[in-house]
Amino acid sequence: MSKKEITQALRWALIAELDAINFYEQIAELVEDENVKAVFLDVAREEKEHVGEFLALLLKLDPELGEYMKKGFKEVEEETGIKTEL
Ligand SMILES: [Fe+2]
Repeated sequence: MSKKEITQALRWALIAELDAINFYEQIAELVEDENVKAVFLDVAREEKEHVGEFLALLLKLDPELGEYMKKGFKEVEEETGIKTEL
């Protein structure tokens, strides 16, 4: 795979992980059994870690993304006072 293809794969992987988080959290809301709910919420948290793993790789391959993310963080801080730190 080329660098461009790997970068695209990482973006798709991030989409899949974010979608998985929503899916597992929605299932957890619908399930009444507390044990089953706990497992779905635990898996959702694991997916959040996967987001971090893929994002770390993506930021290495696409440093421009990080620069624009910082601009976005700054813009939100200026508009709302919300400060974002990772
Ligand atoms: Fe995952």
